[in-house]
Amino acid sequence: MELFSEGAGGTGSGLWRNARLLTMVEGAEPVERGAVVVRDGRIAYAGPEAGLPDGLEGLAVTDCRGAWILPSFVDCHTHLVFAGNRAREFEMRLAGASYEDIARAGGGILSSVTAVNAADEDRILAESLPRLEAMLAEGTSTVEIKSGYGLNIGAELRMLRVARRLGRMRNVRVKTTWLAAHAVPPDYRGRNADYIREVAIPGLEQGHEEGLIDAVDGFCERIAFTTEELRPLFDRAQALGLPVKLHAEQLSDSGGSAFAAGYGALSCDHLEYLEATGIAAMQAAGTVAVLLPGATYAIREAQMPPVAALREAGVPIALATDCNPGSSPLTSLLLTMNLGATLFRLTVAECLAGVTREGARALGLLAETGTLEAGKSADFTLWQIGSPAELVYWLGFNPAHQRVYRGFAE
Ligand code: NIG
Ligand code: FE
Repeated sequence: MELFSEGAGGTGSGLWRNARLLTMVEGAEPVERGAVVVRDGRIAYAGPEAGLPDGLEGLAVTDCRGAWILPSFVDCHTHLVFAGNRAREFEMRLAGASYEDIARAGGGILSSVTAVNAADEDRILAESLPRLEAMLAEGTSTVEIKSGYGLNIGAELRMLRVARRLGRMRNVRVKTTWLAAHAVPPDYRGRNADYIREVAIPGLEQGHEEGLIDAVDGFCERIAFTTEELRPLFDRAQALGLPVKLHAEQLSDSGGSAFAAGYGALSCDHLEYLEATGIAAMQAAGTVAVLLPGATYAIREAQMPPVAALREAGVPIALATDCNPGSSPLTSLLLTMNLGATLFRLTVAECLAGVTREGARALGLLAETGTLEAGKSADFTLWQIGSPAELVYWLGFNPAHQRVYRGFAE
């Protein structure tokens, strides 16, 4: 019974003192003896203990004994809601098949589509919840969740209903994304434009009406959709006032980033094959580059995203798990940071910003979460570590001590 109860919610207050703080505010130095004051779920103060405001009587006090406090993590790109798994394809890839070979042979995304269509809402929920819990245990407090394994209106909406239910069941902020344009289902093979017109757009309208959709995404790739096929979908999203984002340049340079930036996209994601034109367009639009090293690693992609060029252009960089059954069966943002540093040569500071401030920016949530600043939601995690670099350094060790969501300590 407990599995299906939707009891999360509410806000808390309190004073966390004797902590070391990394607020993740751009340019801010670590605070060696810091404190956080929370009132009704909002940060009232985050800074040196010496500067604490008056009037703290009555607040519950937590002595952090020197633990580090950072903003809770934002996982801004996941396909967390799905049924089944693709361990069999993993074995095929180990035996030499490529991710693209498997997709072309009718496996890949389409095998998860079969599993999702065969499962009812409660079944999908029961399979997805442990993945969410693994994320929360590592200090994640905001998770974006995409549809994209239904590929018909009913099943796509079912996925987003599950995502919304997950958000009500646990202390987490869930943002949903309509990704019906993830793959072409067998009954539409060769009729990509018809699929967009008959499924992706009407489903978007219905989901929007039901309050199920926070943003719209697509997979722009030679095994999925071209920019011209995606245009009517993005036009409709824009008309409905919904932000867009795009899986772009993951397996080839398909021009997706410049196309999405033209719509003021929140983010372009993957980007291994991104080139100068796309970078310039993203920079001009303020679009975040969401890098997904779990996918690069798991499909053994040799091409790395152009990190140095993104940095030089001043494009904000976020990191996310891309949690999905095919290219990135990963729930850990801690491991994601390690992969980002090791594979992509991101610095520790870039990795930490990528899963906090920049992840929040990629979801349009920077005013609400992602840094420790007065006025924002009190979403932070206490870590039993000697320095923040440890969060990037450990492989598979989780030093989380306590997660606080809207002022509620778990
Ligand atoms: O983000 N690139 C497309 N979509 C997913 C993979 C989905 C799958 O293989 O199931 C991704 O990598
Ligand atoms: Fe993805």
